[in-house]
Amino acid sequence: KITALIMAGGRGERFWPKSRKNLPKQFLSLTGDGKTMIQLTVERILPLVSIEDIYISTNKDYKSLVLEQLPSIPKENILCEPCSRNTAPCIGLGAIHIAKKNEDAIMMVLPSDHLIKYNSMFLNTLKDAIDIAQNNSNLVTIGITPDYPETGYGYIKFNPSICSGRAFEVDRFVEKPNLETAKEYLASDEYLWNSGMFVWKVSSILHKIKEFMPTTYSGLLNIQSAIGTPEEDFVLEKEFCDLQSISIDYGIMEKSSNIYTLPGTFGWDDVGSWLAVERIKTSNELGNVVDGNVITIDSKNCIIEGSKKLIAAVGIENLIVVDTEDATLICQKDSAGDIKKILENLKICN
Ligand code: GDD
Ligand code: MG
Repeated sequence: KITALIMAGGRGERFWPKSRKNLPKQFLSLTGDGKTMIQLTVERILPLVSIEDIYISTNKDYKSLVLEQLPSIPKENILCEPCSRNTAPCIGLGAIHIAKKNEDAIMMVLPSDHLIKYNSMFLNTLKDAIDIAQNNSNLVTIGITPDYPETGYGYIKFNPSICSGRAFEVDRFVEKPNLETAKEYLASDEYLWNSGMFVWKVSSILHKIKEFMPTTYSGLLNIQSAIGTPEEDFVLEKEFCDLQSISIDYGIMEKSSNIYTLPGTFGWDDVGSWLAVERIKTSNELGNVVDGNVITIDSKNCIIEGSKKLIAAVGIENLIVVDTEDATLICQKDSAGDIKKILENLKICN
């Protein structure tokens, strides 16, 4: 049985001010076809997994958005976290729900806010990953060949001489290195980016959680035994909020052995910051990418997004300008990664 857990509890902070606390990136349409990122994520995998085997994990604040945008997902498959505890508890919660129905299921874990250009190649990569995960208790992570020293991704050092099918054994997993280290990794040709997509048997990941995060594991077991009982919500609220807040990358992947990586080439983009807009949309002859009511004069290489209000840009270069009803961003492109910091300093307008 093949199941999928789509993680949709992130806040999409680097995409502020379009992505907001009450409407984060995964619930927005960024491609211009009207479909939101989470809708595209579900649609993409339907050839491989039936709709009743797709689970969505999200924060309780986003339950109504999920119901509205994904009406065909069974309601009991929408797993609502009472508080944000990052991806390890989110994946653990998904795993116990899936295991309760089918202990032998394969579980694909997918982020809800990425874009993929070549879907059939993506599906083929997932099929290969399923084969490898099915045969033993390996964890499989989908890798991407890096083309610049991104510091916002995890890196996978693989061993080219040990493979299983098309997958390579992972030597080491390094979450978000600094720029200097990222440059070394890029130059060495021995590293892939971690796409944040994983495939494993539900039993395999639960064993790993038991091994590396024993306290989390026992909390999860308590939640699992309450599923379907009148105490379910009460137990979830109490136990989930007590779980350690940590990503799956730091909690399991950096510590575990038996990890394989499948290099994927399917036009992946994690739409991690405003700079991604240049890769998704076409720029004009001066390198500007504009959306909304915008005029530019003598301006180059800018990203400008507004709506009804006119934005007029004169003689500017390399800037990101995003105007929404109640907030306007003006940012040097080089600083796009720091947009998160606005929200740390300025909790008021998120
Ligand atoms: N349900 C739930 N609950 N989902 C969450 C939570 C949570 O508490 N936190 C994050 N998510 C979702 C996000 O919505 C996103 O779809 C996914 O989990 C990954 O979280 P991010 O916050 O976007 O992680 P990241 O981008 O910093 O890093 C991860 O992805 C990179 C590639 O995009 C890591 O896996 C990196 O290793 C990887 O390179
Ligand atoms: Mg991300």
